[in-house]
Amino acid sequence: MNKIRKVKLTLKSRSTTEGAGVRLKRAFGYADPSLDPFLLLDDFHSDDPNDYIAGFPWHPHRGIETITYILHGKVEHGDSLGNGGVIEAGDVQWMTAGSGIVHQEMPHKDENDPKLAGFQLWANLPASFKMMEPRYREVKKEQIPEVSINDKVKVKIIAGEINGTKGPVEDIVTEPEYLDVAMDPNSELKHSIKEGNNVIAYVIEGEAYFDEDNENLVGAENLVIYRGGDHVLIRTTYKNVRFLLISGKPIKEPVAWRGPIVMNTDEELRIAFREYQNGTFIKY
Ligand code: FE2
Repeated sequence: MNKIRKVKLTLKSRSTTEGAGVRLKRAFGYADPSLDPFLLLDDFHSDDPNDYIAGFPWHPHRGIETITYILHGKVEHGDSLGNGGVIEAGDVQWMTAGSGIVHQEMPHKDENDPKLAGFQLWANLPASFKMMEPRYREVKKEQIPEVSINDKVKVKIIAGEINGTKGPVEDIVTEPEYLDVAMDPNSELKHSIKEGNNVIAYVIEGEAYFDEDNENLVGAENLVIYRGGDHVLIRTTYKNVRFLLISGKPIKEPVAWRGPIVMNTDEELRIAFREYQNGTFIKY
């Protein structure tokens, strides 16, 4: 490890409405070479069920993976493969839409504990995998290992590997690393990331410096986009920090994107929407 990645940009997530009227914060939702293979990161957290109860009723996806990580509350889901269940606090649903899936994601309302918090990340698929058979993995909280880097830094590994401990989500084409990092005050994390892969961090709570220059503390609801290098260096001051650290291998292909479907060309988008209209969208 000799080249520390510098922060290219920090972006404050913005309020938007998605699904049938879910109010959430969008960290990003566009294709960009420094975010590739990732397309979107939504942060939904609210104590008011009116912000989320409308949910995400039946809708299609093709050409991407959607990764849902719930921190608090419950989301019920069902899909065209016949899967159904509940994503609970600490669980992850890693859904590879491939050639096509139709699903719904509906937050559960609990009168005694109305808080819902979680994230949805979209990862693109390369052309050769866009029409792959849909795949779906439900990862329970207990399956996600937590490793201590030192006595002040703990990392939950959803995908990726740290000091020989592997996360439960493997064999994903874009080699994603998805970490939930908690750092105490006055601590430091040096974490290697393959040169050439892109890296982002999203702060959940607290604040930290995300590169060596120590110019800007980055706080909650901010996205950090990194430049190239072979590792990241994160440091806290007198506060703690919790953030998602996500990296992956860029696909470097043209992106044609409309709503929940992401292909390479406009013609492929037209085909996808036509198939959805005439009932031939689902291939498996
Ligand atoms: Fe969806």
